[in-house]
Amino acid sequence: MTRTATSAAARARAQSLRLELDDHNRRYHQLDAPIISDAHYDLLMREIEALEREHPELSTADSPTQRVGAAVSGDYAQVTHAIPMLSLSNAFADETVEDFVRRIQTDLEEELPEFSVEPKIDGLAISLRYEDGELVRAATRGDGATGEDVTHSVRTIGPIPLKLAGAGYPSVLEVRGEVYMPRAGFAAYNRRARERGEKELVNPRNGAAGSVRQKDPKIAATRPLAFFAYGVGESSDGPIADRHSGMLRQLGEWGLPISPEAGTALGVEGCLTYYSKLGAARTSLPYDIDGAVYKLDRYDQQQSMGFISRAPRWALAHKYPAEEATTRLLAIDLQVGRTGAITPLARLEPVFVGGVTVSNATLHNFDEIARKDFRVGDLVIVKRAGDVIPSVASVIVEQRPAGSQPPQIPTVCPVCGSALVRVEGEAIIRCTGGLICSAQRKEALRHYASRKAMDIEGLGDKIVEQLIDLDMVKQIDDLYRLTDCDFELMERMGEKSARNLVEQIERSKQTTLERLLFALGIREVGVSTAKALARHYGSLPPLMEANVEQLIEVADVGPIVAAHTHAFFADSRSRQIIAALIEAGLKWPEHEPAQSAEGPLLAQTFVLTGTLSMPRDKAKALLEGLGAKVSGSVSKKTSTVVAGAEAGSKLTKAESLGVPVLDDDGFLALLAEHGINP
Ligand code: IVH
Repeated sequence: MTRTATSAAARARAQSLRLELDDHNRRYHQLDAPIISDAHYDLLMREIEALEREHPELSTADSPTQRVGAAVSGDYAQVTHAIPMLSLSNAFADETVEDFVRRIQTDLEEELPEFSVEPKIDGLAISLRYEDGELVRAATRGDGATGEDVTHSVRTIGPIPLKLAGAGYPSVLEVRGEVYMPRAGFAAYNRRARERGEKELVNPRNGAAGSVRQKDPKIAATRPLAFFAYGVGESSDGPIADRHSGMLRQLGEWGLPISPEAGTALGVEGCLTYYSKLGAARTSLPYDIDGAVYKLDRYDQQQSMGFISRAPRWALAHKYPAEEATTRLLAIDLQVGRTGAITPLARLEPVFVGGVTVSNATLHNFDEIARKDFRVGDLVIVKRAGDVIPSVASVIVEQRPAGSQPPQIPTVCPVCGSALVRVEGEAIIRCTGGLICSAQRKEALRHYASRKAMDIEGLGDKIVEQLIDLDMVKQIDDLYRLTDCDFELMERMGEKSARNLVEQIERSKQTTLERLLFALGIREVGVSTAKALARHYGSLPPLMEANVEQLIEVADVGPIVAAHTHAFFADSRSRQIIAALIEAGLKWPEHEPAQSAEGPLLAQTFVLTGTLSMPRDKAKALLEGLGAKVSGSVSKKTSTVVAGAEAGSKLTKAESLGVPVLDDDGFLALLAEHGINP
């Protein structure tokens, strides 16, 4: 493309970008209500920067590229910064960092320049003015030249010293840094807001900005805010150190908080290593960061590098992939789980967030959808930090398309058409179709074949899908009537794999009671409960006849598990499936119920806690061998608590209930009494 050929289109685009960016600047800086993500903003900014580079004649004095933030809102007293508060150039790729360092190397003829390296804190830039060591004024950055006086709210921020510590500070000192909201404080704040039905904060950054700009300082005082210093503006005695890192150390000595992540690095390699280390630690830091900042450490070198329009040429912000992005909510799909639980899933216009492209995200449940007011067609903010499952965090109501409606709470299962019910007091909606529902049948079959259940190797998701969709397995026992030929018809199945699969299915008939109990998919019955039930009852018939009270007596079985287990075996459909499985050839060894076991400790219940000199499993097995029951929780019915090293709440509870306690030695003595010397 030639310059003249593009200039009409480029001019129009530059003009529209400028208007758009101005609007976003105003929303972000003055209204604290941005409607696009930072990443989106950066994208627009990069586009106009590129346009202006390509067509310098398009650059105007009021272009967003020429300014730092937005004009002050007029509601607050204005503060003129004696030394402007600048911004940083951004890098989104290693090459930009390489260019930045190379330029410094050439200009300064310095082989290995040293950098101060710091996290780029995601908060709000503030300038703190100290006179004779006392905080006299705090101002926002505003447009870089003029900010807003926010002294009233900044004074309420605990970590900001109202009086500098130590001695030797200049009589006038302007400290610059970032006010931020620590993650824990943000989460606690939102938890409380949720409980009270109040508005939640969108993210820690908006939380910080909104709090500082509150007119009523009492509001800021209730917000959990913190501060890190990263620079100095005016200083009546000139520079307080000859290096940036020395300046940070000095500010620290005067009582200003400095990020513990700040350090120094040599050359481009040092910077990039810092970037990846900080990136790896990013999700576990107690505050949000959006990049690493590299600053030439020596002041004399900073001075010779100088500035470009809005940023120093001696510093660079190297950004991380955004953990938040805005995108469109295209549809709300329903997913049916093994137990019939319906989970609403957001189908999204694909968006790059947290380093991956996301097109689905969980919406948790319908209460959450109502509370956050998500509607199809909305522009939403999607989050994905680290390896966390992507979720839809909030909606940008201002951008809502006209005529949108809140989604209807579904009343019938999208897969089988059975009625959906909502259990009292639970947020979850469930399909009542049970194994009539093919979605639940698929999940049930997948679970039945899984490793800790019947362990049928080769019966993967694709096969399960086909078996259910082609109606080859209507009920689980149908699995045992499938032949090589049935499988050979399937996609991606050769003769040999069909044969192997049939053999695996055949092999799974020789099983154990605990595997079967787990495989049946009784709600709340996991591997260890299945094991406890199998051991307690020894065989299926007494378990099937047990009432809720009897089931509660089983170690590790509480009222909820007991109720689900009882309901499962009381259901004639479950009984019919079990009969059909036995008919198909399922076999497992049975033994006498553990209750009637012999042993000197019969009818005694032990609880094991803390670290013992032998593995917990072994201690449990030895006690059970002596006829005792081993339970997971202490109650009045507990006969003895065996408390090893570092025992905690169970020991306390035993003591408060007056339950006898044995320490490790006492336990070994008890075993020895019964002729066991492990
Ligand atoms: S230095 C002349 N250091 O990022 C350089 N800024 O676009 C002035 N920020 O407005 C900024 N952490 O709000 C610097 N360690 C850090 C920072 C940092 C966050 C923010 C600050 C500034 C923006 C730069």
